[in-house]
Amino acid sequence: MAKMRILSGMRPTGPLHLGNYHGALANWAAMQDTYDGFFFVADWHALTTDYETTGAIQDNIREMVLDWLAGGLDPARSTLFVQSHVKEHAELFLLLSMITPVPWLERNPTYKDQIVQLENKDLSTFGFLGYPVLQAADIIIYKANGVPVGIDQVPHVELTREIVRRFNFIYGNVFPEPQALLTETSKILGLDRRKMSKSYQNAIYMSDDPETVRGKVSQMVTDPRRMRKKDPGDPDVCNVFTFHRLYSDEALVTRVNAECRTAAIGCVECKKLMAENLVTGMAPLLEKRRKYAENKSAVEDIIREGDARARAAAMATMEEVRAAVRI
Ligand code: TRP
Ligand code: SF4
Repeated sequence: MAKMRILSGMRPTGPLHLGNYHGALANWAAMQDTYDGFFFVADWHALTTDYETTGAIQDNIREMVLDWLAGGLDPARSTLFVQSHVKEHAELFLLLSMITPVPWLERNPTYKDQIVQLENKDLSTFGFLGYPVLQAADIIIYKANGVPVGIDQVPHVELTREIVRRFNFIYGNVFPEPQALLTETSKILGLDRRKMSKSYQNAIYMSDDPETVRGKVSQMVTDPRRMRKKDPGDPDVCNVFTFHRLYSDEALVTRVNAECRTAAIGCVECKKLMAENLVTGMAPLLEKRRKYAENKSAVEDIIREGDARARAAAMATMEEVRAAVRI
């Protein structure tokens, strides 16, 4: 039996942090054996909000693929590629744009959200409104069955299904309807207990070295109600404890859980223990990243091979699409 195909993408907007790793990348990596994975850098999508500042985009693409490789994506098992290297996405986007009603796009919740949140940006562009149509093209050009995404992207996959139904109704059955494979949102928060995000400057990056990690952990906000060392704390509301759960062994998790509640352990010591386990846990990722980064052409070769595999699949679909549309 052929494996089910999954596809997902990320916009190259900067280095990946541990929230991205636990929220998305680690899931992708875990799915590689079960599924035929297509993972791509959505560089055209990065232009929808940042079309004026494209200077860093090539570096960001390379860094993102390095983060992916460090995080366990395996080019021998999965297809890693760059969206803009497969021009067929743009052709399918154009054809889909002909059949997509504008109200479907205007009622898209992420569209409405972003217009409000990024009020200092000019988002009244055709490309920004059409973002989910390009995303639909990304997905269906590979006839992907599953799309591993976070909850925020589910409306886009729903819209993709609606576009597929409309296309198949008008031109005949070409595309399967893809399904969102919901990945659980990462429970880890940023250093300040807000959502971990590059724009909040509260992130620990996958590529941070041990000294940086130790420094950042020492600044982490703990249980906000624990003011003094002699006050008991509540690990259930403490982000440091969430990290312990991910990176420390069971014995230490149990100990911290108990000693925090009785004030037998202080936050400074607790963080130091966690930081060392985090550094140890991140070491294999850093080592992998270093190996790939050392060899200047390694990443380029991986992208070139992935592009070729993706292009072959996209070209085959477009043959069918052109025949169906008669154009
Ligand atoms: N919109 C996605 C995001 O911002 C990125 C993306 C583009 C994507 N094309 C996709 C995700 C296709 C899944 C499938 O995170
Ligand atoms: Fe958090 Fe550890 Fe401090 Fe408890 S002792 S509040 S778990 S940092």
